[in-house]
Amino acid sequence: MASASSTAPGAKEIAVPGVAPLRAGQGYSFVLRRLHSLSGIVPVGAFLFEHILISNSTAISGPDAYARQVSFLANLPLVFFLELFGIWLPIAFHALYGFYIWYRGDGNTTAYPWSGNWMYTAQRWTGGIAFVYIVWHVYTMRFLGDDLHAHPELSFGKVQHEVMQTGLFLFYVLGLVAASWHFAYGIWLFSAKWGIVSGDKAQKRLLRVCLVLFLVLCGAGFASLYSFRSQALPTDDQNRTMIHSSHKAGAQTASNGRPVQ
Ligand code: HEM
Repeated sequence: MASASSTAPGAKEIAVPGVAPLRAGQGYSFVLRRLHSLSGIVPVGAFLFEHILISNSTAISGPDAYARQVSFLANLPLVFFLELFGIWLPIAFHALYGFYIWYRGDGNTTAYPWSGNWMYTAQRWTGGIAFVYIVWHVYTMRFLGDDLHAHPELSFGKVQHEVMQTGLFLFYVLGLVAASWHFAYGIWLFSAKWGIVSGDKAQKRLLRVCLVLFLVLCGAGFASLYSFRSQALPTDDQNRTMIHSSHKAGAQTASNGRPVQ
């Protein structure tokens, strides 16, 4: 097992096994490191968990269930502020500070146990890949083509249109695997750094639990992707009909925010 070094001011560097805990006064901002670490779990990790395991899994039940879920999320009270403070700003902070940590090479390279420093490198690259994927995914889903908050009934078709293209499908797979790994292994790192799980045996057990979480996230993501790819693409005529019927249903949906199917 590799070791982590811990340095007290004026003392020689001593090697101790395992992941170095976050401590004040180690030459970088303690508060920012703590915030970076925490934001990876809440709210960013919690959002990822919800996005893959709850919202996108509704695609497995078909286009109507998916449209209802998109409509439900789009009609949450104060949705703009929920998204801004619960998702966009925390992701931006975690990602930008994460790149800064990567660039600085902070956290010594021997701090990650198992398989040399592969895990250290993987945590950085999976974060970087997730970042590129998230920027592209938000751009295409939010800012290109149909407005899904106004027309949730088109959500399934819009995602489907992308994942039917082999290159984009592979990009979805890459983004899913990278984000799932980064989060699942991140839970292990978080628990080690904050001293929540410290014994060698307990850490090994937690690593297994995190691996299971990684597989569950990937499994749910693959099942959703399969659902999108296994249904026929709607024609333009069908899309127009869906928009038309959602306009007609508008008056009935106003009270609960869900489209009448
Ligand atoms: C899908 C969105 C993301 C989630 C759910 C997430 C979650 C996490 C979690 C839970 C941790 C462990 C916290 C810790 O080290 O104490 C972590 C660590 C890390 N994240 Fe993220 N992250 C995401 C995106 C990113 C992005 C886009 C980057 C940019 C490169 C990034 C860079 C890092 C780095 C460098 C670490 C390790 C910090 C260290 O070793 O001290 N993350 N992330």
